[in-house]
Amino acid sequence: MKVLLVGSGGREHALAWKLAQSPHLTQLLIAPGNPGTAELGRNVAVDIKDIAALVDIAQREAIDLVVVGPEDPLAAGLADACAEVSVSVFGPSAAAAQIESSKVFAKHLMQQAAVPTAQTHVFGTPQDAIDFVQRHGCPWVVKADGLASGKGVIVAEDMATTIAAIEQIAQSSAGHQLLLEERLVGPEVSLIALCDGTRLWPFPPAQDHKRLLEDDAGPNTGGMGAFVPTPHAPPVLVSQIVEQLIQPVVDALAKAGTPFRGALYAGVILTDAGPQILEFNARFGDPETQILLPLVEGDLLLALHACATGQLQPDRLRWYAGAAACVVLAAHGYPASPRRGDVITGIDTATAQDVLVFHAGTQQHNEELITSGGRVLAVVGRGQTLRTALDQVYGGIEAIHFDGMHYRRDIGRGVA
Ligand code: AMP
Ligand code: GLY
Repeated sequence: MKVLLVGSGGREHALAWKLAQSPHLTQLLIAPGNPGTAELGRNVAVDIKDIAALVDIAQREAIDLVVVGPEDPLAAGLADACAEVSVSVFGPSAAAAQIESSKVFAKHLMQQAAVPTAQTHVFGTPQDAIDFVQRHGCPWVVKADGLASGKGVIVAEDMATTIAAIEQIAQSSAGHQLLLEERLVGPEVSLIALCDGTRLWPFPPAQDHKRLLEDDAGPNTGGMGAFVPTPHAPPVLVSQIVEQLIQPVVDALAKAGTPFRGALYAGVILTDAGPQILEFNARFGDPETQILLPLVEGDLLLALHACATGQLQPDRLRWYAGAAACVVLAAHGYPASPRRGDVITGIDTATAQDVLVFHAGTQQHNEELITSGGRVLAVVGRGQTLRTALDQVYGGIEAIHFDGMHYRRDIGRGVA
């Protein structure tokens, strides 16, 4: 099978790494890829938002399966465009991807499917939202309706920060509609499932660390590290979440004539009143993918192809007993203004210790590898226990260097 993988982050390097293990893979193209994916297949320089160019490559190269990593091309209709020319695609249609691209759509869907989620009020103008807050008091979580690369949610503390958050979100292009959401409290779990339109195969529950600094301080980021499994979600709770929170939404999308085929990511919060959905994403998580795929036993390529063609056989996939952990190495200035051009060394020494190093914001410059984005590398360790996985990761990181490199030293702390 010839595969075109779309994206260029750590998630896509991890997908390329796992797909490359399939005996059914004949050729892997990555659009646009990164220096890590270049070692596993052929990178093709193309903008991921250029749907016509991506479809053109898929046709010209006689691609059997397109695998879409990020949300933007899904929301822009890449899966629909592939389907129109009869190319199989792992990733939902734009209609089904609204579960991520419109928080208002997702809320309506959850209400319709009776899935527990925070109470929400929707506003067409920032002034209406401000008037509401002044009448009803705080606290609220302020959200933009549309895609905002992780910057569309502000958990506000008091009246002044809530009003400032409303004004800030209203200015972003994602903020045509604003949501004020009830603030829920509890541990968070990322539950990602492969989906073929009707059936689901859930990965083990992972925990993400979104804040920049240790002890969950500082701004939200794309994710500074993650580990799996999380003790907060034992198997019975995972089954409950799948049956009561995820499957009903998959059924509702199928019933609406817009079945979800791809990776469905549920951000779940475990409240005292039971699990509730914080958000859905229409794709694999980043950095969750970097820890989940190394634990998958089985042929990911066949599984993704089965999802794309509506034939997922969930009993074909298993995961290794054990744990995995990931720590993201970020560039100087991340997330506000990441510096580019710092020389990266030591990856080979780390990988010689059986650590996996996935590229994200890196670039090959003459003979050197340099930083070219905020989240530079995702370092992943595996082990029988979370403790051994974490020891492996932090041991591997000691070999890696670039000026300005920073990372959290507390991933998995309190759990391992
Ligand atoms: P989202 O992109 O909706 O998952 O929001 C990003 C982060 O904001 C989540 O991981 C939570 O930590 C926080 N958050 C979002 N919605 C709520 C809520 N209703 N109550 C408490 N925290 C929330
Ligand atoms: N790790 C959070 C996300 O992928 O959205």
